[in-house]
Amino acid sequence: MSDNILVSAAAGVLEVRFNRADKKNALTIPMYLALVEALQRAEADTAIRVILLSGEGGAFCAGNDLQDFMQNPPDLEDKPDAGPVMRFTRALSTARKAVVAAVQGAAVGVGATLLLHCDLVVAADDARLSLPFINLGLVPEFGSTLLLPQRVGYLQAAELSLLGEPFDAATAQRLGLVSRVVPLAELQDTARGLARKLAAKAPEALLLTKQLLKAGAGPVQERMAEEAAHFARRLRSAEFHEAASAFFEKRAPDFSKLES
Ligand code: COA
Repeated sequence: MSDNILVSAAAGVLEVRFNRADKKNALTIPMYLALVEALQRAEADTAIRVILLSGEGGAFCAGNDLQDFMQNPPDLEDKPDAGPVMRFTRALSTARKAVVAAVQGAAVGVGATLLLHCDLVVAADDARLSLPFINLGLVPEFGSTLLLPQRVGYLQAAELSLLGEPFDAATAQRLGLVSRVVPLAELQDTARGLARKLAAKAPEALLLTKQLLKAGAGPVQERMAEEAAHFARRLRSAEFHEAASAFFEKRAPDFSKLES
């Protein structure tokens, strides 16, 4: 288990916390593996009724670690022995147990798209979400090209995905990406309270209700695989290398010299 993912269980809730505050909880391969392990534990343990995701240190999750993406572009092929990223996205998107997220500060990239797979999303008033894939020369992932237009409508989805600009908690709530917004000081208690409330429900009815609610979403796994194929190629592109280098060099990317 990675120290960068903290896991604890109480009152039927498995609390899973991103814990890499110095990098805004950007996800590394060991973190994905620890997340998969935690999600598998939640599925297998009948005493666990609900999963609560949160971030330590002021941020929720700044997405995939960009250094990792540059140095070891992951194998995103969705096959039985899929790599850590695909195993995580599959585990969360097919989780039978209810998932609650407590979002504070930055929720970027996969840190934002994972929210589309959660059942209750509580955001602190300081939360800032973004889908910066386009700005990195990448494509949106985790089924978001299917789920986001369904959730917010095509024009809003296009604005968020094509411009890739950050948006605040109030906007996220207006769009239907966040269930409720609370003052930062109340985030953990509110999210934990909701998770425990769910955990006290009739367990089989809870599983079935989630299953029925999710059934209408359509072919999410197929879309995730399609996105991942593009994403894997994009990670090897000159566009991504220029954008990621620019991030670490703290400058704006210059795509003007790249050929399409
Ligand atoms: N991968 C690797 N390192 C990251 C990271 C990421 N996704 N996100 C943040 N970091 C690192 C920064 O490089 C910085 O490291 P340093 O202290 O060694 O310089 C540290 O985390 C703090 O980040 P900083 O940018 O100084 O914090 P901020 O509060 O000004 O901004 C973010 C926070 C999340 C908005 C900003 O860091 C960001 O945009 N990160 C990139 C997000 C991203 O593109 N994710 C990938 C999507 S596919």
